[in-house]
Amino acid sequence: MTDTAVQLWQMKLAHPVMPAAGPNVMDAKALRACAQGGAAALVAKTISSTAAVIPHPNMADFKNYFLNTELWSEMSVDEWVERELPEARQIGLPLIVSLGYNAQDIAMLAPRVRPFADALELSTHYVGNDPKPMQDAVRAAKDAVGVPVMVKLSPFRDVHGTAVAAQEAGADGIICVNSFGPALGVDIENGGRLWMGGKGYGWISGPALKPIALRAVYDVARSVDIPVIGVGGISKGTDVVEYLMAGASAVQVCTAAITRGQTIYGKIARELAIWMAEHHYASIAEIKGLALRHPETLMSAPPQLLPERCTGCTYCVTSCMYGALYLENRKIRLHPELCTHCGLCLSRCPSGALQVG
Ligand SMILES: Cc1cc2nc3c(=O)[nH]c(=O)nc-3n(C[C@H](O)[C@H](O)[C@H](O)COP(=O)(O)O)c2cc1C
Ligand code: SF4
Ligand code: SF4
Repeated sequence: MTDTAVQLWQMKLAHPVMPAAGPNVMDAKALRACAQGGAAALVAKTISSTAAVIPHPNMADFKNYFLNTELWSEMSVDEWVERELPEARQIGLPLIVSLGYNAQDIAMLAPRVRPFADALELSTHYVGNDPKPMQDAVRAAKDAVGVPVMVKLSPFRDVHGTAVAAQEAGADGIICVNSFGPALGVDIENGGRLWMGGKGYGWISGPALKPIALRAVYDVARSVDIPVIGVGGISKGTDVVEYLMAGASAVQVCTAAITRGQTIYGKIARELAIWMAEHHYASIAEIKGLALRHPETLMSAPPQLLPERCTGCTYCVTSCMYGALYLENRKIRLHPELCTHCGLCLSRCPSGALQVG
């Protein structure tokens, strides 16, 4: 029997998948779509002391990465508190409210959103490298409300040091990570127009962000005792497994919800449950942190060949720069004396015909 439930402080979630702050959670209507799409909890778009004025255009999709130059919510805290949050509260799922950015903002915003929030997440995206303003913001939130307060890290800063400083200031959890940048995209079919409006810079999210975010989760989970929520490039159940193994307690999804629709949360959760059942994991706790406890990865022998699984696709042969792999009768063969144990072919084979030796 597979149980995907997770407990985050007082919040009991049916599974670990929820939205991340972005246009997918821009108002109560969008939050309702997340719930209908199978999210286990809700996260409202970052609210700050003034409504954001965002450049246009502000989003572009390049399949393996996504650029945005959206800021925080374009709605004021009054609009959120008077209209959107009461409606979002009616949905009946645990609700995390995202706030930004400095201690003064948080001291004003936190008590206002408190009646609707099961937890707060504080964005550090526009806060500099010095952890002190972030710590002051955490303390302001903790002084103002009695709910868990998480700090969301940006991947272009020292995530380890920031997470430790956040825990010292009293944070109850860490979210890894926000989008990466600044980055640039040039539209070559339109005379070199920049894809993003404003200054032209954008922030990377989606699949390209996943390894960076996973590394952040892995480093932070080893450094603090509080729960870590992973976010970056998640679009399928096996992505969640990676994050859980790297030490995450739950995950968030933004870009995949924008590009593939708000039903993605439930789809990912179902894929996670199927993967767990197939691999005989009964609970999330059995998966969580496995990579943290795994011994150092070593490869001291050539790959083991399972020719019966080989389809003759040649992917591994083409990319073995040492000429160690070849096909015979469309089945994989190896010159063991040429193999340097680089390991590349293990990830190149789509049919599992090459295994750790
Ligand atoms: C269009 C867009 C808007 C975003 N707005 C916010 C925001 O208001 N607050 C925030 O903390 N993160 C914001 N993010 C970052 C996401 O919550 C998330 O951390 C990041 O995109 C990585 O996850 P993903 O690859 O699943 O998108 C935004 C991301 C995108 C793509
Ligand atoms: S481990 Fe590296 S060198 Fe050895 S067969 Fe695979 S790709 Fe070639
Ligand atoms: S990548 Fe896998 S399936 Fe393709 S040729 Fe190599 S061993 Fe065979």
